[in-house]
Amino acid sequence: MSYTEGMLKEDALKGKTIIITGGGTGLGRSMSKYFLQLGANVVITSRKLEVLQNTAKELENETGGKVLAVQCDVRNYEEVENMVQETVKTFGSADVLVNNAAGNFISPTERLSPRAFDTIVDIVLKGSYNCTLALGKYWIKEKQTNKTVLSIVTTYAWTGSAYVVPSACAKAGVLSMTRSLAVEWAKYGIRMNAIAPGPFPTKGAWDRLVPGEFREKFDLKKQVPLRRAGEHQELCNLAAYLVSDFSAFVNGEVVTIDGGEWLQGAGEFNLFDEVTSEQWDLVEQMVRKAKSE
Ligand code: HXC
Ligand code: NAP
Repeated sequence: MSYTEGMLKEDALKGKTIIITGGGTGLGRSMSKYFLQLGANVVITSRKLEVLQNTAKELENETGGKVLAVQCDVRNYEEVENMVQETVKTFGSADVLVNNAAGNFISPTERLSPRAFDTIVDIVLKGSYNCTLALGKYWIKEKQTNKTVLSIVTTYAWTGSAYVVPSACAKAGVLSMTRSLAVEWAKYGIRMNAIAPGPFPTKGAWDRLVPGEFREKFDLKKQVPLRRAGEHQELCNLAAYLVSDFSAFVNGEVVTIDGGEWLQGAGEFNLFDEVTSEQWDLVEQMVRKAKSE
């Protein structure tokens, strides 16, 4: 057994139709593949139709499942409504929404134009509430229950982070939406949860956050206590559990999957990791001596 293997039992998602925004690349693609392997129908959406269509073809070949590719800019509510309609027309229902689409890039905040700030907030926050609102309205109007929304946030949604301020603001908003609607929409049979990943290498994120020489200079693995990055499959295992009926009593939760990364910077004495055994001997002597002085 290993964290690089699928965890849920066969057919765990059979009968579910799952919409994954940004499903053509990166973590969205990986989740799509695992959901298909577990028996779900999958709808992948983003702005680049060609990328989506290629991914859909590859995923169908790899898994034998059914994938619908729908072009949809999540910032545009009409396009989102159309995407929901296409989903229902093709598969007869929409059971799960995964808010995964995002925009981000590393930059000192004072270098950003207002439009740059808007762009990130619009994709991440507006995109997530557009999709959640469109699906929620549909489910509530049709009196459909046992539905779930899973949003992919980040650990800096609550800590904040320098140099990705629009993304941090927007992810914090998505987290707040998750917890708010977990209560408000529970009465309609809609669950809301989130995952906060640490570093999981993808081309989309790494090209924009640790480009060129930054990749070696600022090795993100070094700030993870487990000293490695995440494997896509371990995030997929968690996501599959949270969208499956096995997690029926989990609502309003945000699950961190980061190897302990965000806590590394939080504990007052965590930097003492670098102290050697000999140094600890010395420290112990000094501290014990302090008692008798
Ligand atoms: C400063 C920049 C910039 C940069 C763009 N802009 N890049 N400003 N530094 N590096 C400015 C532009 O000049 C423009 O403002 C505004 O932002 C919008 O740029 P466009 O290129 O017109 O936007 P658009 O075509 O919509 O592209 C959006 C994008 C792009 C976010 C800029 O990178 C994209 O498509 N990203 C999607 C995928 C993605 O970002 N994946 C990473 C997610 S990773 P002006 O004023 O000049 O018009 C993630 C992980 C976090 O979230 C956690 C990791 C551990
Ligand atoms: P990615 O491959 O770049 O994925 C982002 C996706 O969002 C792309 O498929 C992109 O497709 C889509 N997208 C962007 N703007 C959109 C828009 N306006 N409308 C619709 N779709 C749009 O990056 P990733 O690393 O897999 O990120 C996936 C999610 O994980 C994001 O929410 C990210 O914040 C989160 N996350 C990632 C990490 C990590 O280490 N990788 C860590 C924490 C959180 P198009 O360009 O075709 O639109």
